[in-house]
Amino acid sequence: MDLYEYQARDLFDKHKVPVLKGVVATSPTQAEQAASTLGGTVVVKAQVKVGGRGKAGGVKLAHSPQEAADAADAILGLNIKGHVVRKVMVAEGADIAEEYYFSILLDRTKRRYMAMLSKEGGVEIEQLAKERPEALVRRNFSPLDGMTDTLAREMAQEAGFDDEDVKKLVPVFKKLYDVYTSEDATLVEVNPLVKTASGEILALDGKVSLDDNARFRHPEHSELEDHSAVNPLELKAQKMGLNYVKLDGSVGIIGNGAGLVMSTLDVVAYAGEDLPGQPKPANFLDIGGGANAEVMANGLEVILGDDQVKSVFVNVFGGITACDEVAKGIVQAYRILEADGITPKPLVVRLDGNNAEKGRQILDEANVPGLQREDTMDSAARAAAELAADNN
Ligand SMILES: Nc1ncnc2c1ncn2[C@@H]1O[C@H](COP(=O)(O)OP(=O)(O)OP(=O)(O)O)[C@@H](O)[C@H]1O
Ligand SMILES: [Mg+2]
Repeated sequence: MDLYEYQARDLFDKHKVPVLKGVVATSPTQAEQAASTLGGTVVVKAQVKVGGRGKAGGVKLAHSPQEAADAADAILGLNIKGHVVRKVMVAEGADIAEEYYFSILLDRTKRRYMAMLSKEGGVEIEQLAKERPEALVRRNFSPLDGMTDTLAREMAQEAGFDDEDVKKLVPVFKKLYDVYTSEDATLVEVNPLVKTASGEILALDGKVSLDDNARFRHPEHSELEDHSAVNPLELKAQKMGLNYVKLDGSVGIIGNGAGLVMSTLDVVAYAGEDLPGQPKPANFLDIGGGANAEVMANGLEVILGDDQVKSVFVNVFGGITACDEVAKGIVQAYRILEADGITPKPLVVRLDGNNAEKGRQILDEANVPGLQREDTMDSAARAAAELAADNN
């Protein structure tokens, strides 16, 4: 999960990384109030999870509360690389003398952490890395060692900082490493890390990505989730523990195993190519192994909650999961949905593998209205696409 800048600022603050005060605002009036509370010169910054905000007009200096309101008015609603600005952060203005770059990330290929530092921050770091790689100090290190005093000092020296700056930077790097490890992040980036005219080091812009695999260790992180940006169907599926991704088409897809579901998406898209309206998959949904009636019902409920869906394709290859269990699951799921008053849509089922014959028999005997059984993946995909095509 990527965080907004203001959330990264809060995490930095929690771990004693030096930051400036910042207040989130969703309207010009709120920005004006924030600016008068903070006092003096402020910076109004677009809160979007994409880089290059400054260049896109998303970062503005304001010398008075009125100017802050005007800046917020100009920034709110801006579309920055496809991200519409809904919030701004009004931050205290810093008297910047120099801008640096510092980050810690997970280097998967080396199976190590990597820290990067440059005296030339503020700019686009990818460009610096390409054009003048010598200006970017990179060091891999083991999680067992962590960000030691020695490593922090060596990096700062190698980057060309003088002794006085090195002394100030070392504790900041260590605190940023503390954010990285204790929050289970995969990225902590500060650009710019600045030195002010009075010689103070400050993290002025932070980017943090948290490791979703460590979510169970951080119940407090669920607050950081941005529900407004998540598709409501995906949110519902997530709450049910389903692996669902909303797509743009009209054929709902349920399968067991990520690989099978991926190839089902391809086969359905292919089948729909020469049909009116070119029906495409409406979603990715992997119900995993051992799919019981409840999981099947939950999956169908999510898919049928998508107004774009015109037909549903259940593609199951029984391995550990026996097809007769899946068939029972589908039938029970339909009964559950019926009882809940959810209108089913035409359903195409293909069952193969372990206990396929038994499964098919169960489906045939159940006489579920609108259920069509197909023996192969191709014929089932074709049938589901036809049911979703424009002339239906
Ligand atoms: N609090 C602040 N006070 C003074 N100047 C600031 C402040 N915050 C940012 N700036 C200036 O604005 C520039 C751009 O800010 P920032 O790094 O936050 O956005 P960005 O780099 O354009 O966006 P992104 O990091 O998303 O690419 C900084 O390099 C710095 O010069
Ligand atoms: Mg930046």
